Amino acid sequence: MTHPDHPVPGRVLLSAPDIAAIVARLGREITQDYAGRHPVLISLLKGGVVFLADLIRQITIPHHIEFLRVSSYDGAIRSSGVVRIVGDLEIDLVGRDVLLVEDVIDTGTTLAYIVDMLRLRNPGSLEICALLRKRVPNQAGIPIRYLGYDIPDEYVVGYGLDYRENFRHLPFVAALDPESAR
Ligand code: IMP
Ligand code: MG
Repeated sequence: MTHPDHPVPGRVLLSAPDIAAIVARLGREITQDYAGRHPVLISLLKGGVVFLADLIRQITIPHHIEFLRVSSYDGAIRSSGVVRIVGDLEIDLVGRDVLLVEDVIDTGTTLAYIVDMLRLRNPGSLEICALLRKRVPNQAGIPIRYLGYDIPDEYVVGYGLDYRENFRHLPFVAALDPESAR
């Protein structure tokens, strides 16, 4: 049992207080590094929305938020390798300090694709902030400027992350039982 209020077939990897501590640290780092620069934080929908909402409340300098909606999983447990943009940004990135805020990096396929796409828009800078990174072989080698936590190669849910649109609301991150995640 993961939590009496939120029974999930799996085990807790990061509790709500664990996540809060990580997000506070990331917010402090971003606040320091971007002082005086007014960065644009880009969140990937839908999974990244909970993380972004908490992260921006730990950032004490002015910044903008934007949303990008991509689809790479099509409801399956493994990345298809095909990334589609289904909702684009509202602003021009030319010369802007862009921080891409990602929930979890698995194969890195999604991120590699998005980074290439955003570079073509000539931002002044482009960095990545990821809450979770899985330890997987052959991960696309993208430098992560701000990393929350390394996790084992398991399917995780909660704190915005879903399995077939379930479990996004959980206040913790749990590894789903492989039996349930088929
Ligand atoms: P990647 O392209 O394999 O790195 O996968 C990237 C995207 O797939 C992430 O942004 C998530 O939206 C989703 N994803 C990857 N692993 C998980 C997981 O364990 N749980 C839920 N979503 C995941
Ligand atoms: Mg995502």
